[in-house]
Order: sequence, then structure tokens, then C-alpha cells
Amino acid sequence: MRSPSSVSPCPAFEFAAPERVVFGIGVAGRVGGLAASFGRSVLLVTGRDPHRADPVRHALQQAGVTWIDFCVVGEPTVTDAETGARQAREARVDAVVACGGGAVLDAGKAIAALATHPGDPFRFLEIVGQGLPLERDPLPVLALPTTAGTGSEATRNAVLASPAHALKVSLRSPRMVPRAAVIDPALAVGLPADLTACTGLDALTQLLEPWVGCRANGMTDACAREGIPRVARSLGRAIAHGDDLEARTDLAFGAYLSGLALAHAGLGAVHGLAGPIGGRFGRAPHGAVCAALLAPVCRVNLEALRRIGPDHPAIARYRQAFGWLTGHPDAPPEDGLRWIRESVTAWKVPRLSHHGISPADFPALVAAAQASSSMKGNPVRLPDEALVEALAEAL
Ligand SMILES: [Fe+2]
Repeated sequence: MRSPSSVSPCPAFEFAAPERVVFGIGVAGRVGGLAASFGRSVLLVTGRDPHRADPVRHALQQAGVTWIDFCVVGEPTVTDAETGARQAREARVDAVVACGGGAVLDAGKAIAALATHPGDPFRFLEIVGQGLPLERDPLPVLALPTTAGTGSEATRNAVLASPAHALKVSLRSPRMVPRAAVIDPALAVGLPADLTACTGLDALTQLLEPWVGCRANGMTDACAREGIPRVARSLGRAIAHGDDLEARTDLAFGAYLSGLALAHAGLGAVHGLAGPIGGRFGRAPHGAVCAALLAPVCRVNLEALRRIGPDHPAIARYRQAFGWLTGHPDAPPEDGLRWIRESVTAWKVPRLSHHGISPADFPALVAAAQASSSMKGNPVRLPDEALVEALAEAL
């Protein structure tokens, strides 16, 4: 039997997801029992407002699990991860529970890895270190996302800032996928509208880039097909009504799928540029940077693809994805670009200049982006001038 022509052949793939995924409104209450399956004590990693993890503390207490609090403010540094790892070792905890946004989950994953690898953490860091593989399993990690953004609960890396190098780099290992992802959409109720917008647009980018990228496979396509329409239909609602649990559920699921997609198919030029921007402009939130760059990068990608040929398969993929965004499957890609631009404006996403970026920074940012691993997933090789154009449009 012939397969429909719209379905492309499925390349070989390998897939790694958390051993256990518990998803749904109220499931944070189950974290105590899940943590107890790993032992009697945990390091509890939280963000700026540690009280957001009170439901987690309650669940741990109910299950007779003791905890040590470890608070991470902002995006974690290598030193933060080392400090947390030392505390985890000294207290001989059995697992790490991380409850927060992507930065907190990344911190928890890095702490769990370094806890079982005393000594110089730079041995295992990409780019600024030796990038050696982890020698043994990290402590088990239970990840509870409170924003629907990075999908870190599904991925095998942790992004850490190395201020001495003005870079953000990854600690990466297949062993670093959290043992359990406990995804409770209710934990995001109360997230302010601006953070909801930026984290949601990060998730959308992390679904779109693998979908159009050159490393897509059948599993990552399934994630994108399921995730993009959910984020598109619910992001505006969650921004306007933060307590809309149905919308929060769509976003939480979409973010998880985005983590699976990016972990297996890579990303593209949006993240290629966002990485170096995050390294040099530490206060620029990752989600806001990706959101500002999304439409400009899609535009330069489409132009580059059309120069290769009007039948390039990535053009059809853009068209399909934009149909999910706009609800008009036959509309030209320009309508999709307009949808993104208008959404970003309506949701008050700051432009890149807001973070202090100026045209003088473009050459260094473009050079770093071209060398980044994300750029390898982009559907087309972009010349420096195209990246400068995208940055200028997002400024
Ligand atoms: Fe991202």
C-alpha cells in the first residue's frame, strides 16, 4: 500500500524520555510518594520565591521524606551547581527534587550530576571545559516545572552560566534526563502575564524549530503536530486569564513536548542566536529573546529556502505549522509571520534593544551563533548577513 505523499519517510532515531511522566492538574501532590521510592531525604531546589514549592513540601512531609532547601536566584552558574552538589553530598541525600522554571530545573539536574562527580566541574562542560562524558549516574531527579517554557523536565542537558567566560554552556549526558517529570499545570497559575507570554513563545519556538529543521524524525514530528496547535490556541488565553486551567494544561503539555522535540531533533537559528545573547546579556530572559527573534528568523529562513528552490520541503513545513497558528491551512507563510509579529506585539514582548543589545554587538553574536550546536539543526545554512538582518529586525 502506498503511503500518502504528505507523509515523509521516517529516518532512524533513538528516543530517551523520563522514566516516569505524571501529568495532570493536582499531580504535584504525588511527588512525596515518588520521592520516597528513591529514599528518605532530598535536596529541594527552588527559585526566587521558595513558597511556590509549598505544595511540594507538604507532599514530601506527608510521605515522610525530609528535605534540605536550596534556592537558585536567576539562571544558575557553574558555582551554584557546585555549591548545591556539595550540600547534596554532605547531607547524603537520596534524590534531587527541582520545582521551578527552566533555570531551576537545569540547576537541579546539574546539581544531581555533580553530586556524584566530585572535583572540577569543568571536566564535563562543553566549550569552556573538556566535555568529558559523565562517569556514573547522577542522583535521581524529580522535575516539577512551574512555567510552561523550556521543557527541561524532558531534556538531557542543563544550561549553566560561566561568568568568567561570558558564556552559557551545557552540561549534557543521556544520564541527565530526569527520572520523573511531575507536570502539574496548576503550578503555573499565578505566573504573571509577561512570563507566561515569553515562556510560552519559547516552547512554541522549541516545537517549530525541530519541526522545520534538518534533523526531524517521526517522533519529534509527532511532538510538534500535537504541541504547536495546543500552544497556539491556548497561549493568548493563559496570558489574559492566568487561572484558566484548560489553557495552562495545553501549555504545560506543549512545553513538555517541546523538550522532547529539541532533545532529539535539535533547534535552529533562533536558539543559535539566543544562546550567545544569553551569555553576553545575562539579564535578557531566554524566552523573551527567542520570542523577539522568532518572526525575523522565520522570515530569513524562508527567503533562504526559496532561493534554493520553491519546492524545498521545509517551506511546506513552515506553511503547515503556520496553518496551525492562524487556523488557515491554505494561507501563505507571510500570514504566519504576521500572526507571530502581531502576537509578540500584543503580548508586549520586549525588543532586543530593551536588553541593551545594539548593532555594535551583532558581529560577535553572529560569529558565536554560527559556531553553536543549535545552528546545525536549522533547515538551511544562513550567511552572516541573514543573521544580522534577523537581529536588526528584532532590535
Ligand atoms: Fe528555548
